[in-house]
Amino acid sequence: MELLQAVKERKSTRAFLSNPVPGPVVEEILQYVIHAPSAINLQPWEFTVVMGEERERLSRRLIKAYREKNISCSPGNVKPLADTFNRRGIECVKLMTPYISKLGATFDAFINEGSCNFYGAPVAIILTLDNAFSKARLVDMGIALGYLILVAHSYGLGSCPIGLINAYEDDIKDVLNIPEHKSVVIGVALGYPDPSSPVNTYKSPRDSLDNFVRWFD
Ligand SMILES: Cc1cc2nc3c(=O)[nH]c(=O)nc-3n(C[C@H](O)[C@H](O)[C@H](O)COP(=O)(O)O)c2cc1C
Repeated sequence: MELLQAVKERKSTRAFLSNPVPGPVVEEILQYVIHAPSAINLQPWEFTVVMGEERERLSRRLIKAYREKNISCSPGNVKPLADTFNRRGIECVKLMTPYISKLGATFDAFINEGSCNFYGAPVAIILTLDNAFSKARLVDMGIALGYLILVAHSYGLGSCPIGLINAYEDDIKDVLNIPEHKSVVIGVALGYPDPSSPVNTYKSPRDSLDNFVRWFD
């Protein structure tokens, strides 16, 4: 698949078929992902691929933690955001809600519990970073995430970045035996999209480029 086509087509998948993704396919995808650039070629990323019964165990633990602690999907801002960003967040919820309602679920329940369950995807990938690195290396992690979701799309796979699970980092570390000196940066749900699910027909919009760019010419 052409790169620009993948960039245009990719969208977050929030309903997956139960068909497993073969381990060698996940490995091939990650072989592409590690071509991502990183500062001084440090390649700080680490991927924990979770499938099968372990994947179920991880979800059970995350859903339990969510029900106990009730920390929802939120951008986790440090300070109140400018109106532009609040407007985009409100619009995101408003536009997605009708698709989620078709499943008989509320937005909050679907997104929060769904995220903890990796939306039923057969593969969860947890991206971790050693705490010895500075926060600047989160840029490298973000690039790797971008590569991962685009390469997955090229393989006909759907994906959804799952930031919500960061709130339950201790639980993830415990289930997956991730050492204390590493941080969970993000999770990714990966699998074959369920074409019959209304949520997968939703494509999120973007603001006009003029809102993001200043030119000095
Ligand atoms: C860092 C990051 C964290 C995200 N966390 C979640 C999440 O926890 N749950 C979820 O359903 N979607 C999550 N998303 C997906 C975003 O909601 C999605 O990318 C955005 O609405 C734009 O839609 P698109 O990916 O379909 O283009 C996350 C995306 C990013 C980049």
